[in-house]
Amino acid sequence: GAAGGVALALPAERLVSAALGNAPTAQPFSVPLPIPPVLSPVYSDRSTDYYELSVRPGVAEILPGVQTNVITYNGSFPGPTIKARRGRAVKVAVTNRLQTPSAVHLHGGIVPQDSDGHPLDVIQPGKHRVYHYPNDQRAATLWYHDHAHHLEAEQIYKGLCGLYLIEDRKDAPSLPKGQFDIPLMFRDIALDDKGQLLWAIFDGQRRNTVLVNGVPQPVLKVRRRKYRLRLVNTSNERMFSFRLSNGGEFVQVATDGGLMARPVRRTEISLWPAERVEVVVDFSKQRGGTKIMLTNANGGDVASTSQIMQFEVIDGIRRDAPDNDDSEVPPKLSVLPAIGAPVMMTRKVVLSFDAKNMVFLINGKPYDPHRIDYTVKRGSTEIWEVTNADPDPIPHSLHVHVVQFRVLDRNGKAVEPWEAYPKDTVSIPAGETVRLLIRFDAPYTGVFPFHCHFVDHSSVAMMAQMRIVA
Ligand code: C2O
Ligand code: CU
Repeated sequence: GAAGGVALALPAERLVSAALGNAPTAQPFSVPLPIPPVLSPVYSDRSTDYYELSVRPGVAEILPGVQTNVITYNGSFPGPTIKARRGRAVKVAVTNRLQTPSAVHLHGGIVPQDSDGHPLDVIQPGKHRVYHYPNDQRAATLWYHDHAHHLEAEQIYKGLCGLYLIEDRKDAPSLPKGQFDIPLMFRDIALDDKGQLLWAIFDGQRRNTVLVNGVPQPVLKVRRRKYRLRLVNTSNERMFSFRLSNGGEFVQVATDGGLMARPVRRTEISLWPAERVEVVVDFSKQRGGTKIMLTNANGGDVASTSQIMQFEVIDGIRRDAPDNDDSEVPPKLSVLPAIGAPVMMTRKVVLSFDAKNMVFLINGKPYDPHRIDYTVKRGSTEIWEVTNADPDPIPHSLHVHVVQFRVLDRNGKAVEPWEAYPKDTVSIPAGETVRLLIRFDAPYTGVFPFHCHFVDHSSVAMMAQMRIVA
């Protein structure tokens, strides 16, 4: 039985026995999907919005009636959403109220080096600093998360991440917006029988509770119309393969780096750690009362990892008729900047694991924050040929700071359209090679990391860095 001391305090009908472990759980699809709060600026002037974040311990109600100890930005799990506008700067004053160092990295952001959250450029306990985000980049779904050297895996796992949305009024204004534009942040955790987080590195097997915006198996009541869903995988290691239980379509409109040129219809979406996709799902043809599950084909037979959340279609003002919905997905979403510059060089990046010493390597070396792995010319274009050379079937990915790249090919074959548009993180299954076309068009010089975004790997050395020079 699932009923431990904590569980007994809950109304009996809300409890079912947990599939694994003895943590109390709620009846699946009974808890409404929480939406992370949108942070308000403390001050705004003509060019800039100013925000404050405090990094601090907190409690989250992951399971109904259970207080789980987490670490938070501003007490919120996951952190609050920052909404930025293209061309308008954001400054975030961050205070570290933990006992450990913290660094904030804006994932996918084109930011100066001193605001990038380099692993050694941390905020010590009790200290604060201001990060400057110019937002001179395409509108996109970005996220911010901890990046302190060796600590990021644990600190992200325990709650240090939040959404950062750059918006551009000129971008496809007919897409669903407002309450019909919904973020879905996915992450897996392991809970003990008191509903507390279990933390250990490389513990993916035990992390069998999948959260959406901080709770397991929520339900979202949807009207009979189109919704824009922003899918963000904040997991340390879990790779999702999403489907709709009715076989329905996702119309993908955006990748990591913002809108694609044209929408693409998909019935299955694979999403590796740190990747984002934005899709439009049309519920207008569903009758009121219809329940559609978002499933994960990689989740095995376990409900908590394969039945991720539910959409419950509700009737609008008119029964048995779709909502008035003037949103639409235009056939042309965006015009992408060309990458015309000639390629200056091709680099080979090799990802591997040293099983003897339990370290993950890039080009045969563990991360050394004092070593410069590559020197890159600002404004140049390069091809990076990235190989997962692991003899064991360990998946890896590559995230490069301060750029949005294009994936050219995978094992020599042209990639699907959703990988050909701007991305900052690419999946590389064992044995595969991908080629990335990267233009270093950020106006900044300095030292920026690139790394595997399985953060359990990057925390144990699967990271390298480049110096961008003028
Ligand atoms: Cu999302 Cu260097 O990380
Ligand atoms: Cu890896």
